[in-house]
Amino acid sequence: MAEKKIIAVVGATGAQGGGLVRAIQNDASGNFRARAITRDIHSDKAKALAKAGAEVIAADVDDPESLKKAFQGAYGAYCVTFFWAHFSPEKEYAEAGAMARAAKDAGLQHVIWSTLEDTRKWVPVEDNRMPTLQGKYKVPHFDSKGAADQLFSQLGLPVTFLLTSFYWENFIYFGMGPKKGPDGKLALTLPMGDKKLPGIATEDIGKCAYGIFKKGHEYIGKTVGIAGEHLTGAQMAAGFSQALGQEVRYNAVSPEVYRNFGFPGADDLGNMFQFKHDFEQYYCGARSLDVSRSLNPSLQTFDTWLAQNKDRIPLE
Ligand SMILES: NC(=O)c1ccc[n+]([C@@H]2O[C@H](COP(=O)([O-])OP(=O)(O)OC[C@H]3O[C@@H](n4cnc5c(N)ncnc54)[C@H](OP(=O)(O)O)[C@@H]3O)[C@@H](O)[C@H]2O)c1
Repeated sequence: MAEKKIIAVVGATGAQGGGLVRAIQNDASGNFRARAITRDIHSDKAKALAKAGAEVIAADVDDPESLKKAFQGAYGAYCVTFFWAHFSPEKEYAEAGAMARAAKDAGLQHVIWSTLEDTRKWVPVEDNRMPTLQGKYKVPHFDSKGAADQLFSQLGLPVTFLLTSFYWENFIYFGMGPKKGPDGKLALTLPMGDKKLPGIATEDIGKCAYGIFKKGHEYIGKTVGIAGEHLTGAQMAAGFSQALGQEVRYNAVSPEVYRNFGFPGADDLGNMFQFKHDFEQYYCGARSLDVSRSLNPSLQTFDTWLAQNKDRIPLE
């Protein structure tokens, strides 16, 4: 039997990378094996990956030499950054650059860069429809990823640019789920008006990424957008009502109100939702459900995700 090709997975103990490691491990007859990258090989999550059969090695995206070692001998790598760990677009850009250089150094044959749009191509910094943040960004956690695309292409890497979507897990972990209002009724608050928000189960991001690696050359040099469904706030509220067995209202607020909610990153997210709202046709169009399903035939819809996860959504 031919030796399996190694995919080095950044963020392997997290949402995107974890899904990819599991997708590789679950396909025992496939041509790939996972090398899980973590900063702490002794953590419970890292031990669980090792127990499931993944090679687990230590590296830090802020330590370029450790990344180079982690990518050596691999066929491919899944590259993702962790904006919400530091809130710094400059740091995220530098981390992407370190991953691109490590991929070049290791002579990788296929790199997936988990990116998002540089929204300044649609809303230039001087456009006042939304505030400019941190001096030169509109949506910092998007813009730095999109700007970093060129770091991969300039090095001539065999790269696939993966445009991900809003995680439905944000309703569990990110405080975005339905909340009780003063009337005691649940409401889903989003500044999306009547526009559609592409969303996805995080586990499906890894499965789609695995599909891209399996297709090999077909996706090299291409941008691929993925989503499980494109849904309006009203449609998601209806899905919550059905799954939770109690009414969930859609509370559409303006981006301005959302930006002023006061939690860390509210301004970034307010601008993000406004971008998705104002450029709905482009944004949904760039995230094809058919392509996503062709990469990952078990792609979940919002309702299937809710059926599995409704009890994990904090409602207070
Ligand atoms: N939330 C959304 O809706 C959404 C949608 C699209 C894209 N995104 C983007 O997704 C990215 C985060 O990906 P994720 O959700 O998969 O992350 P995650 O679940 O937060 O996982 C992060 C993992 O990465 C590892 N990590 C953190 N800092 C690291 C470092 N310096 N070096 C090496 N590993 C490090 C950690 O593992 P160890 O502790 O084991 O090292 C952690 O388990 C963000 O940039 C965000 O903008 C989010």
